[in-house]
Amino acid sequence: MLNFDDEVTSTTTPAAARMPAMGASSGAADHSYTIASTSTGRIRVEDKRIINSSADVNQLVPFKYKWAWEKYLAGCANHWMPQEINMSADIALWKNPNGLTDDERRLVKRNLGFFTTADSLAANNIALGTYRHITNPECRQFLLRQAFEEAIHTHAYQYIVESLGLDEGEVFNMYHEVQSIRDKDEFLLPFIDVLTNPEFKTGTPENDQKLLRSLIVFACIMEGLFFYVGFVQILALGRQNKMTGAAEQYQYILRDESMHLNFGVDVINQIKLENPHLWTPAFREEIRGLFQKGVELEYRYAEDTMPRGVLGLNAGMFKEYLRFIANRRCQQIGVDILYQGATNPFPWMAEMIDLKKEKNFFETRVTEYQTGGALSWD
Ligand SMILES: [Fe+2]
Ligand SMILES: [Fe+2]
Repeated sequence: MLNFDDEVTSTTTPAAARMPAMGASSGAADHSYTIASTSTGRIRVEDKRIINSSADVNQLVPFKYKWAWEKYLAGCANHWMPQEINMSADIALWKNPNGLTDDERRLVKRNLGFFTTADSLAANNIALGTYRHITNPECRQFLLRQAFEEAIHTHAYQYIVESLGLDEGEVFNMYHEVQSIRDKDEFLLPFIDVLTNPEFKTGTPENDQKLLRSLIVFACIMEGLFFYVGFVQILALGRQNKMTGAAEQYQYILRDESMHLNFGVDVINQIKLENPHLWTPAFREEIRGLFQKGVELEYRYAEDTMPRGVLGLNAGMFKEYLRFIANRRCQQIGVDILYQGATNPFPWMAEMIDLKKEKNFFETRVTEYQTGGALSWD
């Protein structure tokens, strides 16, 4: 059985005596971009690093970052699929002309308008960008799991759109057509483009800061801030017994996303630890400015989705919530908070994140999986 407390005894060749692998390129900045290892020696845990590592990325063990492996295992243990959730109450409510107010319908549609494409952006950012630049195999293992979870989330939003019979084109193209959604995505895109650019390589302080900046924007501002107004809105509907199927989907998504956020925070803090020269006062100030911009954009989105207040929620409450969340994200990565004294107007959200699967739901799922997925050797 795996035990992280085991002393990792190195039986490997000393680094200095290692032979470069056939065909491997020279230069530290190239390690993460080739599948071939630059070394044929056995892995030494002390050579493993989150970025710019010289250790072979094809060998998962010995582990260095147990938090990454534990989060990968937790992600797998939380596996779920959108079709497992019964949407019939939502469909009946949506089809009933008196089921929801116009403001509630606007909120649901604009909410989906952001999320349907946001999780595709997230998946592309991981698969085409982040993954290449993270040179640690246990972190990559989590990123592979995370990329699949983003696919599940896009699937969940598509499943809700299909169940309710919404106009697909209207919802999926909202990120081009609705200004408040477009503004959020336009803020994010340059930070994704940096990492997906095939020419971009880490290995210089300037480029390593670019990577760190993009990781912070993605984990702390996109997943950690931009998603939260949307989660509160649908979960608030669910708390009023409306759109309960969609709310259940969002609860599972929220649980996954809080794991992605926590993983991102651990990666960011470990990169800081291993590369303290990147964490300059000027860089930290720049990050605070990005948080401030993120709060402004998300507040505008809250106003746009709830122009008159709905569900006992109004944009003013979200302003306070966003400030509270932004402070929390700043603390998590070690930058000074922006909004003194901000409080959480939605304390019930904490319970939603600590979701325990309902017993009957879980049992149904397991039975279905066993029936549908059992192998037969006859
Ligand atoms: Fe997601
Ligand atoms: Fe995510």
